[in-house]
Amino acid sequence: MSYNFDTITDRRNTDCIKYDWTVERGKPKDVLSLWVADMDFPTLPEVSEAIRKAADHGIYGYTEPKNPYYEALSGWFSRRFDFAIQKDWIVKTPGVVFALALAVRTFTEVGDSVLIQRPVYYPFSQVIEANGRKVVSNSLVIRKGKDARQNSNEDGCPGFNPRFPNTYAIDFEDFEKKIVKHQIRLFLLCSPHNPVGRVWTEDELRRMAEICKKHDCVIVSDEIHCDFVFPGNKHFVLPSLSEKIADNVMLCTAPSKTFNLAGLQISNIIIPSIELRKRVLKELEKTGFSQCNTTGLVACRAAYEHGEPWLEALLVYLKGNLDFAMDFLAKKLPQVDVIVPQGTYLLWLDFRKTAIAPKELDHFIVHKAKLWLDSGEIFGDEGLGFQRINIACPRSVLAECLERLQNAFA
Ligand SMILES: Cc1ncc(COP(=O)(O)O)c(C=O)c1O
Repeated sequence: MSYNFDTITDRRNTDCIKYDWTVERGKPKDVLSLWVADMDFPTLPEVSEAIRKAADHGIYGYTEPKNPYYEALSGWFSRRFDFAIQKDWIVKTPGVVFALALAVRTFTEVGDSVLIQRPVYYPFSQVIEANGRKVVSNSLVIRKGKDARQNSNEDGCPGFNPRFPNTYAIDFEDFEKKIVKHQIRLFLLCSPHNPVGRVWTEDELRRMAEICKKHDCVIVSDEIHCDFVFPGNKHFVLPSLSEKIADNVMLCTAPSKTFNLAGLQISNIIIPSIELRKRVLKELEKTGFSQCNTTGLVACRAAYEHGEPWLEALLVYLKGNLDFAMDFLAKKLPQVDVIVPQGTYLLWLDFRKTAIAPKELDHFIVHKAKLWLDSGEIFGDEGLGFQRINIACPRSVLAECLERLQNAFA
């Protein structure tokens, strides 16, 4: 079956936040939206069909899935990541951010510090601070030129582009120092990393896991973007690296990014350690949450059962979008840099070399270029002077976005 990702599906007036929040968020009516991380592509037909079948039944009572749901999930992770998930490791939650908040409440006390790596997906900071804990950042560092090659997963540095040599790396010395200094008990890892697009190497993951284990610090590994990896890179599911590592990890997965199901609110949290799992389940009980949304469960199973050919086609299309954007930027917008992503469908654009003051950048993007992107500083001060573009859209939309940017600079 072939899939067409070029078709534009009008999402306006569906109450989707990407388009229907434009006016209430103070954006011009004719702004082009490439901000929030959902896709402008309909999910695979098998998922819509499964939802239709459930809808036709007409009774939407409490639902707890049987074995085929778990087999679909574990089949996906063993085929794609060589990671065998046991059914009793799985805790279902209505979203990954919900699970991050749950972890903060489970593994830390009010007043404790939690480690993250800014610039990072902004709800990481929100769930820490909203729960009365403190953010400590082992901020990622930008590496230039040849140093950037050290982040390559394979010889020859896939995706390395001399026009855009910058990439992000972990300052491991700072990582350990901060854990010790702030008596960190919980580290929220974003893997692959949103917004900088790093797919962490096995070596980087092992080093982080080792340091955390040494200092008795639990790792919550948010791997919601694990299915989006560009050619030449390989995603390692953190608890797949060893039993010892798995014992210290709460892994957050979801079909929501991969198959565009975010509104269905379903995620699968994998906790191999019985001790950690018991603590999480105890905290979950306090929230009053029990069963997941029926439609989400139906969609999740269908996606993991049937979604492979669709995802493979999507990955090819996204790579085409990435190449298109990099080519455009290289030729027509020499003042803008891009951090070449190894994974995710997000592009982290660096405007710091332009004449626009970082504090003015958002106004320029929204009111001059008429684009609604994600402003870099929402990911932490480290993101000042950057903007994040969601490239999971038809190529013609991406082209219009880049042309608007070019015209604004002209
Ligand atoms: C790293 C990361 N975690 C979690 C989420 C959202 O997860 P959920 O919608 O399941 O809460 C996103 C969405 O962009 C994300 O990028």
